[in-house]
Amino acid sequence: MISFRPGVPDVDVFLFNAWHQAARRWDRLPKTMLGYGNFSGYAPFREQIAIYLKDARGVRCEPDQVLIVNGSQQALDLSARVLLDPGDSAFVEDPGYLGVKGALLGAGAKLIPLPIDDQGVAIAKASAHPESKLAYVTPSFQYPLGITMPLPRRLEWLAWAQSSPGWILEDDYDSQYRYAGAPLPALQGLDRHERVIYLGTFSKVMFPALRLGYMVVPRDLIKPFSQARALTDHHSPTIQQGVMAQFMAEGHFARHIRRMRALYKRRQAHLLTCCDRLLKGILKVRAAEAGMHVMAWLPNGWDDRAVSTHLARRGIEALAYSHFTLRRPKRGGLLLGYPALSEHRIEAGIRRMAEALRGFRPVQAR
Ligand SMILES: Cc1ncc(COP(=O)(O)O)c(C=O)c1O
Repeated sequence: MISFRPGVPDVDVFLFNAWHQAARRWDRLPKTMLGYGNFSGYAPFREQIAIYLKDARGVRCEPDQVLIVNGSQQALDLSARVLLDPGDSAFVEDPGYLGVKGALLGAGAKLIPLPIDDQGVAIAKASAHPESKLAYVTPSFQYPLGITMPLPRRLEWLAWAQSSPGWILEDDYDSQYRYAGAPLPALQGLDRHERVIYLGTFSKVMFPALRLGYMVVPRDLIKPFSQARALTDHHSPTIQQGVMAQFMAEGHFARHIRRMRALYKRRQAHLLTCCDRLLKGILKVRAAEAGMHVMAWLPNGWDDRAVSTHLARRGIEALAYSHFTLRRPKRGGLLLGYPALSEHRIEAGIRRMAEALRGFRPVQAR
């Protein structure tokens, strides 16, 4: 199977030596490290994250606002439970990330889908729902369409949060990967009124099994969030946090991001070249200036789930766009992730996809 699953990092090129060196230094632990730790996270790790977020993402925070979580999925779940009561309304992006919808529904929230336009999640319909308590947004790279929200739209959302009871939940899941143009700082960095809760993860830069992520919360929310975290599962494993803190303090993390960014940029370019050469007239694929996948649009009338199943039977994994939408989309598409595939595998995969799609007979769209 050649998998074009989105958001999967390349772990083969990962700096194993540096990671192992950092881990080895944790072999002989002081006894104090083996008991329960700080529920909000290991202090040196929170400091490293605060430094990184200020430098790389323009996030305004002090280390005590940084809460360590077991990946951003836990942050989504905690946010839903801390900020919402059952029956409260929350804005979600449509199309959007499925994990947030599940977390919100699990907390008894009512989802209000907002469409995506060429500036990211549209705000026009927000005024029709003044009761909404939350807006989940992915401004760096809208998931899955890949739109970067420009400054005017960011300011509109911040104005909404200031004048309504709603919080903004900014999911900055893969912002390390920006290949063109100046990096736009996080929405949180523009927020002068402490209305944004910022989420990030190590799953996309390091590897998902690490299960480490972080949230930056406004001062008023530090206590409720750390209490909720303590009641959920106390805290994330201290040793993993310590190793990661050291990895960051020694500069390996920044180096790793730079290296991966250059690698993924080349891989995306190669994927586009292969699509242009082998899939012209079938798939419409455009370069993405950031992120870990590109969108590939199918011809009108092609059902993307049928296409995805057809491809899976022929050894290609490519997720259907319609899985990410609440409303039926006008056009079907596929999400093509490339970071984990070598150029050789990308070419082999696109070749196989081209053969498979030439044999695809569209029936009738869903
Ligand atoms: C948009 C988005 N947010 C959050 C997550 C959750 O990541 P994790 O829980 O591994 O940190 C993912 C994972 O794929 C994602 O794509």
